[in-house]
Amino acid sequence: MIIAVDGPTASGKGTIAKALAEHFGLPVLDTGLLYRAVGYQTQLNHGDPDKAADALVACDFPDALLDDPALRYESTGSLASRASVHPAVRRALFQRQVDFANQPGGAVLDGRDIGTVIAPHADAKLFVTASAEERARRRHAEMLGRGVEIGYDAVLADVRARDARDTGRADAPLLRADDAMLLDTSAMDRDAAIAAAIAFVTERT
Ligand code: C5P
Repeated sequence: MIIAVDGPTASGKGTIAKALAEHFGLPVLDTGLLYRAVGYQTQLNHGDPDKAADALVACDFPDALLDDPALRYESTGSLASRASVHPAVRRALFQRQVDFANQPGGAVLDGRDIGTVIAPHADAKLFVTASAEERARRRHAEMLGRGVEIGYDAVLADVRARDARDTGRADAPLLRADDAMLLDTSAMDRDAAIAAAIAFVTERT
């Protein structure tokens, strides 16, 4: 069973993907982390995102890098969003994601183009979203909780900028697949969103 979970930044898709993986006993891949690693590595080398992606694929994305807390920073998300516009970066990361999706027994993947490009044949597809204001509110609260001092307006501006880049790029833009269930979590708490996702996947499989 392959489950594809796509959606914009701070929509809750990562939380939902992890909960689905646990419920159905499947491995899960947060594909944003791969793009974050590329963005981060590009910045460290003052360089070229295409080369950073190739180098990371060649050394198989070391755990030490994927576990680095800096990958979770909002600033790294922005770097990832910039790097992910490059078709050569997307090509470099493609096979790793396809192999993960098609492993025996199935998998859950979350990202932007899982249901459209990486696993168009997925058994269940979810498109998780929420209003930009609500996503900014959640991201802002989470950042304040981590001790990051930032105003709500700056977070909202970043959410909107990332949405624009992710939906506006030519190669594999953020797009709801025709057969994806739309899960708008704007007015839902975490548990309600997870319950709705599990109910949908159970019905589909
Ligand atoms: O999901 P997350 O916020 O960690 O992703 C960081 C960035 O990586 C996104 O803003 C997006 O530009 C890019 N990304 C992508 N395709 C994916 C996953 C993430 O382009 N499948």
